[in-house]
Amino acid sequence: MKEGYIGILTSGGDASGMNATIRAITRSAICNGYKVKGIYRGYEGLINDEIRELTTEDVSNIIQRGGTILKTARSKEFETPEGRRKAYEVMQKEKIHTLFVIGGDGSLTGARIFAQEYDVPCIGLPGTIDNDLWGTDLTIGYDTALNTIVECVDKIRDTATSHERIFFVEVMGRDAGFLAQNSAIASGAEAAIIPEDQTDTDQLEEFIGRGFRKTKNSSIVIVTESPTGKGAAYYAERVRKEYPQYDVRVTILGHLQRGGSPSAGDRILASRLGCASIQAMMEGQRNVMIGIRNDKVVYVPFAEAIKKNKPIDKSLITVLNELSI
Ligand code: F6P
Repeated sequence: MKEGYIGILTSGGDASGMNATIRAITRSAICNGYKVKGIYRGYEGLINDEIRELTTEDVSNIIQRGGTILKTARSKEFETPEGRRKAYEVMQKEKIHTLFVIGGDGSLTGARIFAQEYDVPCIGLPGTIDNDLWGTDLTIGYDTALNTIVECVDKIRDTATSHERIFFVEVMGRDAGFLAQNSAIASGAEAAIIPEDQTDTDQLEEFIGRGFRKTKNSSIVIVTESPTGKGAAYYAERVRKEYPQYDVRVTILGHLQRGGSPSAGDRILASRLGCASIQAMMEGQRNVMIGIRNDKVVYVPFAEAIKKNKPIDKSLITVLNELSI
């Protein structure tokens, strides 16, 4: 066994497949002669020394479980230099030489700053339902959330059709429309309203303008949640005012999108990226996110994964528009 430990934490919003990732990192590390410590409650637990060794048995029977056995948090303290100093001291005390961070944008931003300040090797794994990290085609948890949304929309469609109503279904994604756009395609929805398409067009006007009622007696519009208040409720209210002839309802799917057993796709992705993260460490890589592009594992520098905006493929908008006539 090699000296010291690797440390694993999950941070930010949980995502299905985080457990499969913890399992993969732990087992691959042990296979390659490393000892592993689990850090509880994300960076909070690193600051407060909530850490214990993980064995292969500790990660048994978790590949199929949603959430994260390590718990997660959004740490305000880690955003301060004082918090990061405490975290560094705990890492020294616990003999953790490399930090593995499973999380989204905010979590990898934290890792990047920490790595710069203290010269600590950090390796990121993209764990978020939002799929909004640049440099990876997929993030762990996205596929499961997408399937959950589609399952829900299938159910909503039954009642929407029976009552001849327009449903605005709000999905997560923060400021990224991947979940909305692709769940709309997969569920046969009539439209998706996404942040990436918001600046130059009135997406509601476009949708109504396409004359959906000419051929259909009900409609489903998937809307990305909006920090500025332009979520499903906003569009429903507009339709009530501007097109009072339509019967409108709103469903906000909320946190049910984050739970549940990970899809096979997410389990495989988590397992591949987890093993690749240990390979990356052994190759001397640091401060990179392990991603997947064209079905090949890639190492993406933190700066790129965080700073660059991952674009939505605009052809997906055409696909949805053509198929929802
Ligand atoms: O980033 C993942 C995510 O689920 C976003 O889609 C959403 O905006 C946010 O987290 C919700 O965070 P919380 O669980 O803190 O309400």
